[in-house]
Amino acid sequence: MAIREVIKMGDPRLLAASQPVAEFGSPELRSLLTDMQDTMLNLNGAGLAAPQIGVGLRVVIFGFQENPRYPGADSVPFTVLINPTLTPIGEIVDEGWEGCLSVPGMRGLVPRYRELRYTGFDAAGTPIDRTVKDFHARVVQHEVDHLDGILYPRRIRDLKDFGFSEALFPGEDLAED
Ligand code: NI
Repeated sequence: MAIREVIKMGDPRLLAASQPVAEFGSPELRSLLTDMQDTMLNLNGAGLAAPQIGVGLRVVIFGFQENPRYPGADSVPFTVLINPTLTPIGEIVDEGWEGCLSVPGMRGLVPRYRELRYTGFDAAGTPIDRTVKDFHARVVQHEVDHLDGILYPRRIRDLKDFGFSEALFPGEDLAED
């Protein structure tokens, strides 16, 4: 159990495609998930993908309640999602502000599908199959992008909608990413 260093944009490991997990229930996978959870909670993050701690496996965690970094967003149940697949439902795309622990202190306006179905597995290899929308859908899309080597700034349509949190949202006292 350990808080790991979150690597930052510019590190080539964040640009690599991650590999599927082949074995569930292993001590290595349990240890990875514990470290990811400790790291995410320590930084008050809404989600974390394994590549962000330098592990190239298709593992993400997410979930939060009343996170000060996302005022007004609905809570999302804590979820371990391994080998995920995403299927958009409908074609409606919403723009929303995102941050990332690998891009600290910044926010960008990112288009994401409003609603989608996601499947995958939990830590024990039990299948997960959920249909979600709004912030829950946004968080999953952000985290799964990490597994394909995509950081949110690459999704921003107009780079005028990218900047430092303190300048974009003065006085809102958003927590550090
Ligand atoms: Ni991120």
